[in-house]
Amino acid sequence: MHLFNLKIIKKQYLALGMLVFVVLFLFNSKPAFQCQLTPDSSAYLPTIYGITPTYARLAQKADLTRLSQTLMLVKNFHWIVIEDSASKTKLVENLLKESNLKYTHLNVKTDKPKGSSNHGNGSTASGVEQRNMALDWLRGHLRSPEGTPGVVFFMDDDNTYALKIFDEMRKIKRVGVWPVGIVGGMRVEMPLVTDGKVSGYNAVWKPYRPFPIDMAGFAINATLFLDFPEAKFSRKVQSGFQESEILKYVVTQQELEPLAENCTKVYVWHTRTQKPSIISPKKLKKPLVPDNHIEV
Ligand code: UGA
Ligand code: MN
Repeated sequence: MHLFNLKIIKKQYLALGMLVFVVLFLFNSKPAFQCQLTPDSSAYLPTIYGITPTYARLAQKADLTRLSQTLMLVKNFHWIVIEDSASKTKLVENLLKESNLKYTHLNVKTDKPKGSSNHGNGSTASGVEQRNMALDWLRGHLRSPEGTPGVVFFMDDDNTYALKIFDEMRKIKRVGVWPVGIVGGMRVEMPLVTDGKVSGYNAVWKPYRPFPIDMAGFAINATLFLDFPEAKFSRKVQSGFQESEILKYVVTQQELEPLAENCTKVYVWHTRTQKPSIISPKKLKKPLVPDNHIEV
């Protein structure tokens, strides 16, 4: 019955029908077709591993909100957030979950020596244990099948990052450096470049540091942390020497790669959030409506 019907359909109609079918087929399958021809280019981008220590304070959520919303615009970004606390907090946990970022959430409490000061052995530096824990995690991750090549960037939670800095650091072979705005008592602290190489530094705060560069002014090829398993931060060095401490394991000044247009552009600022002053409710004449249940 079917065959018989087919035979009597005029050839023209059959051709037209087939044409419509083919057109519809191509139209329907276009997106999948395109995907196969031009795969998501981010698959070929080096991963940026951002390492951020953070601690509980009134402006923490504001700072982390601002930072996480910058990071949402960065492709192939993996955020390693380490809380300076004995246990993970709901505030940070929820913020990370809601961000949709790829992240790893860790915690370790800083064990600050009693009566420590910045004199002599400046062991008061923030983030030492947290960043070391992140580096340990990263080494394990890089050795695992999920580990992808990329760069490591140490990011304070209150700095300001232009998206351009993330494009710059994906070019890194070993260690990339760039200027940092508003740091070390300067408008801009920066490496000086001669013939495409770092020849010195414009720095006035402890200019005798082996690498007078702020934490925000460099990123390191992640595989170097496998090549140098002993590379880590230390409580034994004086204040301001953490950057030099980590860099000494992995690079020499001659090997530094100047980025951000030969270190002539500022794409990161060492901003610091002012400590908010809150009026004690006890000092108020009129009692306030309780607000302790509200996360700020
Ligand atoms: C400067 C440097 O830019 C930091 O990289 C360096 O860690 C810090 O000094 C230091 O050695 O103390 P600064 O703005 O003075 O930065 O320091 P913070 O922004 O207060 O702290 C740096 C990072 O460590 C932040 O992400 C902060 O959340 C975290 N932090 C700070 C802790 O995890 N625990 C603390 O007790 C304090
Ligand atoms: Mn800071």
